[in-house]
Amino acid sequence: MSVLLDLREVSKRFGGLQAVRNLSFDVRQGEILGLIGPNGAGKSTLFNLINGVFAPDHGRIIFDGIDITGERPYRVARYGLARTHQIVQPLTNLTVLDNCTVGACFGRKNLPLARAHEAAREAIAIAGLENRAAMLALNLTIAEKKRLELARALAAQPKLLLLDEVLSGLNPTEVEHMIGVVRRIRERGVTILIIEHLMQAIMGLSDRIVVLNFGQKLAEGLPAEVARHPQVIEAYLGDPKLAAELQGAG
Ligand SMILES: Nc1ncnc2c1ncn2[C@@H]1O[C@H](COP(=O)(O)OP(=O)(O)OP(=O)(O)O)[C@@H](O)[C@H]1O
Ligand SMILES: [Mg+2]
Repeated sequence: MSVLLDLREVSKRFGGLQAVRNLSFDVRQGEILGLIGPNGAGKSTLFNLINGVFAPDHGRIIFDGIDITGERPYRVARYGLARTHQIVQPLTNLTVLDNCTVGACFGRKNLPLARAHEAAREAIAIAGLENRAAMLALNLTIAEKKRLELARALAAQPKLLLLDEVLSGLNPTEVEHMIGVVRRIRERGVTILIIEHLMQAIMGLSDRIVVLNFGQKLAEGLPAEVARHPQVIEAYLGDPKLAAELQGAG
């Protein structure tokens, strides 16, 4: 499988805190790669480095053969990289359709408005929000806002989609629905890098897993391998619930 995203010795420091440390791994074309690790491990920071919210202090980020290190988010989006945010960020006074149209306009292609609407409607359908298209984002439930966050990123027609905890705050039925949506997106040829704390879900969904701890890569491999990795279990021991889930999933 060819490499779509290549992280080479990426580091980022916030004052005295080394949030990401000398991190290298790649995301292969067509896969779902799960990124897990305890709170504060640097997962969301890594997304911010990949999509250009922050520039890394060291290292290179190569996307689809292009060195995007330090490029601004709007440029990175044009290369075909879209993301969701852990804390959903809808444009609250716009409708679901308009939110997604904005996503489409600033996405991989410089679409005229009519085509952007089309891409938005398609993304809304995939996310299961058709009957909410005309609703203002502020009137959505939490679960619907999560789906909107995903639909808006998808409307950008990315090659690589970064999903930051799209399952958090959802009830079990909503989690199942969202997992189905993520699978369908991958079936359409979109490569996915997904951060998630729900172990059963991420282990079931991912082709491979990378584990971060204190900004460093602790383990990498197939879900079953990672779930049995002694250091991974140890890193989660501070959180017995996670450790139990991890072992249950393996
Ligand atoms: N903009 C920032 N300025 C200063 N420190 C930051 C900033 N963003 C993140 N950090 C710090 O960097 C570390 C990594 O944070 P990050 O949000 O990447 O963790 P995470 O793995 O996504 O955690 P969680 O699972 O809780 O979402 C944390 O200690 C956090 O407080
Ligand atoms: Mg995070």
